[in-house]
Amino acid sequence: MGTRVGEITDRSAIIWTRISAAPVRNNEGNLIPGRTQDYPSKQLPKANVPVGQLEGACPGAPGRVRLRYGTKVDLSDSQTTDWMDVSEASDFIHQFALDGLKQGTNHYYESETSSVDGKPHSTFRGEFVTAPAASAPGNFSFCVMTCQGYPDRGHPDGHSIYPAMLAMKPAFACLTGDLVYYDNDMPRATSPELAITGNGCSACPGSFSSTATSEPTG
Ligand SMILES: [Fe+2]
Repeated sequence: MGTRVGEITDRSAIIWTRISAAPVRNNEGNLIPGRTQDYPSKQLPKANVPVGQLEGACPGAPGRVRLRYGTKVDLSDSQTTDWMDVSEASDFIHQFALDGLKQGTNHYYESETSSVDGKPHSTFRGEFVTAPAASAPGNFSFCVMTCQGYPDRGHPDGHSIYPAMLAMKPAFACLTGDLVYYDNDMPRATSPELAITGNGCSACPGSFSSTATSEPTG
Protein backbone atom coordinates (compact mmCIF):
# COMPACT_ATOMS: atom_id res chain seq x y z
CA MET A 1 0.00 0.00 0.00
CA GLY A 2 1.02 3.62 -0.15
CA THR A 3 0.31 6.58 2.11
CA ARG A 4 0.69 10.32 1.90
CA VAL A 5 -0.01 13.07 4.42
CA GLY A 6 -1.36 16.42 3.33
CA GLU A 7 -3.53 19.42 4.15
CA ILE A 8 -1.67 19.75 7.45
CA THR A 9 -2.72 22.59 9.74
CA ASP A 10 -1.86 23.23 13.37
CA ARG A 11 -4.63 20.90 14.47
CA SER A 12 -5.49 18.62 11.56
CA ALA A 13 -4.11 16.52 8.74
CA ILE A 14 -5.42 14.18 6.07
CA ILE A 15 -3.73 10.82 5.63
CA TRP A 16 -4.31 9.34 2.19
CA THR A 17 -4.05 5.59 1.81
CA ARG A 18 -4.34 3.26 -1.16
CA ILE A 19 -4.18 -0.52 -1.22
CA SER A 20 -2.28 -1.85 -4.20
CA ALA A 21 -2.43 -5.37 -5.56
CA ALA A 22 1.35 -5.75 -5.60
CA PRO A 23 4.23 -4.40 -3.51
CA VAL A 24 5.67 -2.50 -6.47
CA ARG A 25 4.31 -1.21 -9.74
CA ASN A 26 4.55 -3.34 -12.86
CA ASN A 27 8.13 -2.79 -13.94
CA GLU A 28 8.11 -5.59 -16.50
CA GLY A 29 5.00 -4.60 -18.41
CA ASN A 30 4.39 -3.50 -21.96
CA LEU A 31 6.31 -0.27 -22.55
CA ILE A 32 5.16 2.20 -25.20
CA PRO A 33 8.16 4.48 -25.55
CA GLY A 34 8.38 8.14 -26.34
CA ARG A 35 6.24 11.22 -26.05
CA THR A 36 3.37 12.46 -28.11
CA GLN A 37 5.61 14.83 -30.06
CA ASP A 38 7.66 11.83 -31.21
CA TYR A 39 4.73 10.55 -33.25
CA PRO A 40 3.00 12.06 -36.29
CA SER A 41 -0.29 13.69 -35.46
CA LYS A 42 -3.20 11.28 -35.00
CA GLN A 43 -0.87 8.27 -35.27
CA LEU A 44 -0.27 7.78 -31.59
CA PRO A 45 0.08 4.13 -30.57
CA LYS A 46 -2.67 2.82 -28.37
CA ALA A 47 -2.46 0.45 -25.45
CA ASN A 48 -3.40 -2.97 -26.82
CA VAL A 49 -3.14 -4.84 -23.56
CA PRO A 50 -5.13 -4.48 -20.35
CA VAL A 51 -3.99 -1.45 -18.40
CA GLY A 52 -2.58 -3.60 -15.63
CA GLN A 53 -0.14 -5.12 -18.10
CA LEU A 54 1.41 -1.78 -19.01
CA GLU A 55 4.80 -0.82 -17.70
CA GLY A 56 4.28 1.36 -14.65
CA ALA A 57 0.78 0.12 -13.91
CA CYS A 58 -0.21 -0.14 -10.29
CA PRO A 59 -3.59 -1.82 -9.95
CA GLY A 60 -5.36 -1.43 -6.66
CA ALA A 61 -6.90 -4.13 -4.51
CA PRO A 62 -10.09 -4.15 -2.46
CA GLY A 63 -9.73 -4.47 1.28
CA ARG A 64 -9.88 -2.62 4.55
CA VAL A 65 -7.60 -0.04 6.12
CA ARG A 66 -7.38 1.67 9.48
CA LEU A 67 -4.93 3.97 11.24
CA ARG A 68 -3.34 4.22 14.64
CA TYR A 69 -1.87 7.62 15.37
CA GLY A 70 -0.40 9.56 18.25
CA THR A 71 2.52 11.71 19.37
CA LYS A 72 4.79 8.96 20.68
CA VAL A 73 7.07 6.96 18.42
CA ASP A 74 5.90 3.68 19.94
CA LEU A 75 2.25 4.75 19.53
CA SER A 76 1.63 4.01 23.20
CA ASP A 77 -0.71 7.02 23.28
CA SER A 78 -2.35 6.25 19.98
CA GLN A 79 -5.94 6.50 18.87
CA THR A 80 -7.30 4.00 16.39
CA THR A 81 -9.75 4.71 13.60
CA ASP A 82 -12.50 2.40 12.47
CA TRP A 83 -11.75 -0.04 9.67
CA MET A 84 -12.66 1.52 6.34
CA ASP A 85 -13.51 -0.43 3.20
CA VAL A 86 -11.82 0.47 -0.07
CA SER A 87 -12.93 -0.74 -3.46
CA GLU A 88 -12.67 -0.01 -7.15
CA ALA A 89 -15.35 2.67 -6.75
CA SER A 90 -12.90 4.76 -4.72
CA ASP A 91 -9.78 3.65 -6.64
CA PHE A 92 -8.96 1.62 -3.52
CA ILE A 93 -8.28 4.87 -1.65
CA HIS A 94 -9.40 6.17 1.71
CA GLN A 95 -8.55 9.51 3.21
CA PHE A 96 -8.46 9.76 6.99
CA ALA A 97 -9.23 13.29 8.21
CA LEU A 98 -7.53 13.65 11.58
CA ASP A 99 -8.48 16.49 13.91
CA GLY A 100 -7.68 17.57 17.44
CA LEU A 101 -3.93 17.22 16.90
CA LYS A 102 -1.27 19.04 18.89
CA GLN A 103 0.26 22.20 17.41
CA GLY A 104 3.84 22.10 16.14
CA THR A 105 4.26 18.49 17.20
CA ASN A 106 5.64 15.31 15.66
CA HIS A 107 2.87 12.82 15.05
CA TYR A 108 3.36 9.15 14.20
CA TYR A 109 0.99 6.78 12.49
CA GLU A 110 0.70 3.19 11.43
CA SER A 111 -1.68 2.04 8.74
CA GLU A 112 -2.97 -1.50 8.80
CA THR A 113 -4.57 -3.22 5.84
CA SER A 114 -6.44 -6.45 5.42
CA SER A 115 -8.33 -8.33 2.78
CA VAL A 116 -12.06 -7.80 2.45
CA ASP A 117 -12.70 -10.74 4.80
CA GLY A 118 -10.25 -9.48 7.41
CA LYS A 119 -7.10 -11.46 6.63
CA PRO A 120 -4.25 -9.17 7.78
CA HIS A 121 -1.80 -7.77 5.26
CA SER A 122 1.09 -5.73 6.56
CA THR A 123 1.50 -2.43 8.35
CA PHE A 124 3.22 0.74 7.31
CA ARG A 125 4.54 3.52 9.54
CA GLY A 126 4.96 7.20 8.83
CA GLU A 127 5.21 10.52 10.57
CA PHE A 128 4.48 14.19 10.08
CA VAL A 129 4.73 17.46 11.98
CA THR A 130 1.76 19.74 12.53
CA ALA A 131 2.09 23.44 11.84
CA PRO A 132 2.76 25.80 14.73
CA ALA A 133 0.08 28.18 15.90
CA ALA A 134 -0.64 30.84 13.30
CA SER A 135 0.54 33.51 15.72
CA ALA A 136 3.89 31.82 16.39
CA PRO A 137 6.77 33.36 14.40
CA GLY A 138 9.33 30.99 12.93
CA ASN A 139 11.72 30.25 10.12
CA PHE A 140 11.19 27.36 7.77
CA SER A 141 11.85 26.23 4.21
CA PHE A 142 9.57 24.39 1.83
CA CYS A 143 9.76 22.84 -1.62
CA VAL A 144 7.61 23.40 -4.70
CA MET A 145 7.32 21.02 -7.62
CA THR A 146 5.36 20.81 -10.84
CA CYS A 147 5.50 19.56 -14.43
CA GLN A 148 7.00 16.11 -13.96
CA GLY A 149 7.53 13.59 -16.76
CA TYR A 150 7.34 9.86 -16.13
CA PRO A 151 10.24 9.10 -18.55
CA ASP A 152 12.42 11.55 -16.63
CA ARG A 153 12.78 9.34 -13.61
CA GLY A 154 16.32 9.50 -12.31
CA HIS A 155 16.39 5.88 -11.19
CA PRO A 156 14.18 2.83 -11.65
CA ASP A 157 12.16 3.55 -8.52
CA GLY A 158 11.33 7.18 -9.14
CA HIS A 159 12.56 10.72 -9.52
CA SER A 160 15.85 11.67 -7.92
CA ILE A 161 14.49 15.06 -6.95
CA TYR A 162 12.55 13.60 -4.02
CA PRO A 163 15.50 12.34 -1.99
CA ALA A 164 17.20 15.66 -2.79
CA MET A 165 14.19 17.60 -1.55
CA LEU A 166 13.92 15.47 1.56
CA ALA A 167 17.59 16.08 2.37
CA MET A 168 16.78 19.80 2.66
CA LYS A 169 14.43 18.97 5.53
CA PRO A 170 11.60 21.14 4.25
CA ALA A 171 8.63 21.87 6.50
CA PHE A 172 6.38 20.77 3.65
CA ALA A 173 6.27 20.28 -0.12
CA CYS A 174 3.77 22.12 -2.30
CA LEU A 175 2.76 20.00 -5.30
CA THR A 176 1.20 22.58 -7.57
CA GLY A 177 -0.12 20.46 -10.40
CA ASP A 178 1.00 18.57 -13.51
CA LEU A 179 2.40 16.09 -11.01
CA VAL A 180 2.92 13.64 -13.85
CA TYR A 181 1.85 14.57 -17.36
CA TYR A 182 -0.92 12.35 -18.63
CA ASP A 183 -0.86 13.74 -22.15
CA ASN A 184 2.81 14.09 -23.05
CA ASP A 185 3.95 10.54 -22.50
CA MET A 186 2.80 7.28 -24.02
CA PRO A 187 0.29 5.86 -23.77
CA ARG A 188 -1.74 9.04 -23.66
CA ALA A 189 -4.28 8.81 -20.84
CA THR A 190 -7.49 8.83 -22.85
CA SER A 191 -9.61 7.06 -20.24
CA PRO A 192 -10.06 7.25 -16.47
CA GLU A 193 -8.56 3.78 -16.19
CA LEU A 194 -5.41 4.84 -18.03
CA ALA A 195 -5.20 8.04 -16.02
CA ILE A 196 -5.55 6.25 -12.70
CA THR A 197 -3.67 3.06 -13.36
CA GLY A 198 -1.47 3.86 -16.32
CA ASN A 199 2.08 5.13 -16.48
CA GLY A 200 3.19 7.75 -14.04
CA CYS A 201 0.24 7.15 -11.76
CA SER A 202 0.70 9.23 -8.64
CA ALA A 203 -0.74 6.39 -6.58
CA CYS A 204 1.97 3.99 -7.62
CA PRO A 205 4.32 2.81 -4.91
CA GLY A 206 7.69 4.25 -5.72
CA SER A 207 6.55 6.91 -8.14
CA PHE A 208 7.31 9.44 -5.47
CA SER A 209 10.08 7.58 -3.78
CA SER A 210 10.44 9.79 -0.77
CA THR A 211 6.96 11.10 -0.18
CA ALA A 212 4.96 7.95 -0.85
CA THR A 213 6.41 4.70 0.23
CA SER A 214 5.05 1.24 -0.10
CA GLU A 215 4.70 -2.04 1.66
CA PRO A 216 3.66 -5.41 0.33
CA THR A 217 -0.02 -6.04 0.73
CA GLY A 218 0.26 -9.75 1.14
FE1 LIG B 1 3.22 21.69 -16.59
